[in-house]
Amino acid sequence: MDLSVNIAGVQLQNPVLAASGTFGYGVEFEDIVDLRRLGAVVTKGLSREPMPGNPSPRLFETASGMLNSVGLQNIGAPAFLRSRLPRLRQLGVMVVANVFGYSREDYLETLAILNDGEGIAAYELNVSCPNTDQGGIVFGTDAHLLSDLVYAAKQAARRPLWVKLSPNVTNIAQLAKVCEDAGADALSLVNTFVGMSIDVQTRRPRFAKIVAGLSGPAIKPIAVRMVWECSRAVKIPIIGMGGIATAEDAVEFLLAGASAVQIGTTNFWDPKATENVIRDLRRFCEHRGIEQVRQLTGAVEIDG
Ligand SMILES: Cc1cc2nc3c(=O)[nH]c(=O)nc-3n(C[C@H](O)[C@H](O)[C@H](O)COP(=O)(O)O)c2cc1C
Repeated sequence: MDLSVNIAGVQLQNPVLAASGTFGYGVEFEDIVDLRRLGAVVTKGLSREPMPGNPSPRLFETASGMLNSVGLQNIGAPAFLRSRLPRLRQLGVMVVANVFGYSREDYLETLAILNDGEGIAAYELNVSCPNTDQGGIVFGTDAHLLSDLVYAAKQAARRPLWVKLSPNVTNIAQLAKVCEDAGADALSLVNTFVGMSIDVQTRRPRFAKIVAGLSGPAIKPIAVRMVWECSRAVKIPIIGMGGIATAEDAVEFLLAGASAVQIGTTNFWDPKATENVIRDLRRFCEHRGIEQVRQLTGAVEIDG
């Protein structure tokens, strides 16, 4: 049973990755998860300079998901190269660096810094974070800005460029095509949905920034639909995510057209979820005589 997949030239031993912002820099999990067994670890979002993030509270659990307002807190790309990447290399982890910025220049300078890091397999460009005042939301929802950013980032990047799309748009397939035309090597989707929650006792929003990003089981059917729509619009590989907790969830995304998947919110309540999904995905395929996991990609059967 062959679980390996190739995402725009990056060979992954299996299609299960840890999602950005839910797995730290990877090293935090080294005593819990055998990191070498994961398809890859996507780092939390990296910027040119360190960022303090938003005030607390930063997380709120809803009936079927989680709202977060972390605000992209991170140590900055130079510190990541100095203090985290060497350990990841030592551990033999496949690393994808997630990158964000507040301007085109921010993105390009962060990519230039990361280009010097040894042992990064690919970049994932976050054009979709809904948690910052002037962040990726502008890029991810405007076709012209997105095209310009992706084109420039592709020129700057010395590694394959994955673009992580915002789901807070009307026509995600159109924006997927914009990214492909601008040179993206692969697409990750989806990021969190903009949500809001109000404490009825105090009548105040639960977060200082008022709105927050919704993730987890609640978003899964929408994310599967978006992967399916995008897979029909582009030829580049898609990495799907949104509420994945089990191997069956992962298979659903693969059938919809994803070549790989990421697990995010589930890590908060089941830190071994990535490893377990890999194990169960292998069993799922073996029980059904599926010899290569990539045979599942886009294999949804639709009449007519
Ligand atoms: C606490 C938290 C922090 C996140 N931080 C980032 C981030 O830094 N960059 C990014 O591209 N996505 C970030 N995300 C989005 C996730 O990577 C993922 O796209 C989203 O949560 C949907 O997947 P899930 O339902 O499995 O969590 C974050 C999500 C959560 C819950």
